Amino acid sequence: MAVKTSNIEPRTSNLPLRALVTGGAGFIGSNIVKCLLEQGDQPVVLDDLSSGYKENLLQEVMFIQGDVRDRETVEKAIDGCGVVFHLAASVGNKRSIDDPLTDAGINVLGTLNILESARKHGINRIVFSSSAGIFGELKTLPIAEDHPQDPDSPYGTSKLAAEKMCLVYNKLYGMHNVCLRYFNVYGLNQRYDAYGNVIPIFANRILKGEPLTIYGDGGQTRDFVNVADVAAANIAAAFSPNACGVFNIGSGTRVTINELARLIQEAAGAEVGKELASPRPGDVRDSLADISVAQKAFGFAPKTDLKVGLAEYMDWIKQDTITIHQLRNSK
Ligand SMILES: NC(=O)c1ccc[n+]([C@@H]2O[C@H](COP(=O)([O-])OP(=O)(O)OC[C@H]3O[C@@H](n4cnc5c(N)ncnc54)[C@H](O)[C@@H]3O)[C@@H](O)[C@H]2O)c1
Repeated sequence: MAVKTSNIEPRTSNLPLRALVTGGAGFIGSNIVKCLLEQGDQPVVLDDLSSGYKENLLQEVMFIQGDVRDRETVEKAIDGCGVVFHLAASVGNKRSIDDPLTDAGINVLGTLNILESARKHGINRIVFSSSAGIFGELKTLPIAEDHPQDPDSPYGTSKLAAEKMCLVYNKLYGMHNVCLRYFNVYGLNQRYDAYGNVIPIFANRILKGEPLTIYGDGGQTRDFVNVADVAAANIAAAFSPNACGVFNIGSGTRVTINELARLIQEAAGAEVGKELASPRPGDVRDSLADISVAQKAFGFAPKTDLKVGLAEYMDWIKQDTITIHQLRNSK
């Protein structure tokens, strides 16, 4: 079958595009793969399954089990692709503090491997999954792209270094790489892990009938963005001629952790109560993305209301076939 190779023009042709999704068996990557399949494209997933699950993928997806640090594997996976969604990463602050060398190896050198291979194969655009962790301590709200960048973990630092590499390839080689800085992403295929995010942690405690732990007074705020909106942002950024550089991806709204605890119990139809714990050192007080730049550049417009997204998430997690005992990194 003919496959379209140019990725910068808007989709004027109906030819399917072959797209490499690194980390495509993970939480966010698998949602991007689903969108690509729905629009008739051909995703190729490269994933070492260190934190992702093959169960997240439909059978028809081309899957290569391998490491983004391995050049030969990357060359094989990228061949014939028109665009790359690069999500494979060692994810999270705690994990990076536990093992900064692995974090930097995957997040920085792995990204360079992708950039070098893409350049060699004439691919003009990588959509790189970055993180609001690159900002470090937050100084102003809402957070715009030019907010000071002073990460306070090896993870935030490696993501910032990888962003800079993507941008340097734009300058040196005329690529149109896009870095999407996600705020707190939640939704389908997000599972509990020990390095975890608050929504899967709350969901699992509710399923076990245990109270939700609130660090501090619970008045701290976060910008939760649904993974369906994040996947849509990736697709829009990949195919928009105006997308180039760094963009914040959040919902543009924020909620307190107390309110989140109330909403998720409501969504689950269960009341488990709360237990208070000391504030955690290093946790920021407030977070809120300014998403106007992404709105303007590629029409990013998050659609999922938190209440609706939480209800959908609770329904999904109740019937998830992977049990907590089978989860990697759950201890
Ligand atoms: N979840 C969030 O809230 C969030 C926020 C900001 C940024 N991000 C970024 O989004 C991306 C996806 O994160 P996620 O939440 O889906 O996490 P995830 O752990 O579910 O996905 C990461 C995927 O990468 C794979 N992987 C890890 N190391 C690899 C390697 N060396 N080679 C090949 N594959 C490898 C894992 O198996 C997994 O499938 C990451 O780059 C992460 O930094 C996520």
